[in-house]
Amino acid sequence: MTHCHRLIQITDTHLGRQPGPIRPGYPDSDAQLDTVLAAVRQREARVDRVLLTGDLAEDPHPEVYARLLDHLRALPGDWPVTALAGNHDEHGILEQTLWPAGHAVDGHCDLGNWLIVGLNSASPGKVGGYLEPSECARLDTLLAGHPHHWALIAVHHPVVPVGSAWMDRIALENPEDLFAVLDRHPRVRGCLFGHIHQEFRGTRHGVELLGCPATCIQFTPHADQPERDTRSAGYRVVELGPEGEIHSHVERVATSADIPETRRA
Ligand SMILES: [Fe+2]
Repeated sequence: MTHCHRLIQITDTHLGRQPGPIRPGYPDSDAQLDTVLAAVRQREARVDRVLLTGDLAEDPHPEVYARLLDHLRALPGDWPVTALAGNHDEHGILEQTLWPAGHAVDGHCDLGNWLIVGLNSASPGKVGGYLEPSECARLDTLLAGHPHHWALIAVHHPVVPVGSAWMDRIALENPEDLFAVLDRHPRVRGCLFGHIHQEFRGTRHGVELLGCPATCIQFTPHADQPERDTRSAGYRVVELGPEGEIHSHVERVATSADIPETRRA
């Protein structure tokens, strides 16, 4: 696929105040991210943009985002980065740290005949997500201003239920406000999200809805209570074709924190 644009989604890095596990029994979030970035670097020859879809910090302090920047230096300098805030992040601190380094936070960009839009669903003090009317209006205006572009949206919170009762209670609170915009713009072809720490694929009215494994810990799909999954960390590859087609898959990355196959139930 010669004329495809290639995006990499990396999500839910959950970097703690200091490097190391954020809870007893968890892997070291910094080491996990480093291992995933090394795998991306090794496996992906060409990347047009990296999307970091939120919960980048577990504990959102400037020094944590400075550490995130240090980790990102492992990637080639010509891979632009767009970051989003998740419920664990502080949007303002994320911007203040990443902007001076040349990275985007939310915002939008063109990739050939594709428009990529990052939306901020982080709502201070809440675990679930909310898209403010101003954010929905920004999306609507951008899409109206790019009538001949295909469009891909990225947002931290899942926009549809993923089939886990506990997770579906902390999803995007107002997906209907997003869908009202999408339904006016049929050239929107996909929506990427994080937050769920597992692979997910769904569709709504022809729009691909794609969730991504975290770099730290994974949650078991279709569990009604939070349950640690033994699957490895991962990232998502998204290829955007000239006719609006999306080809995407998840890459798993084994890390030293993985539970050995022989000990798996
Ligand atoms: Fe989250």
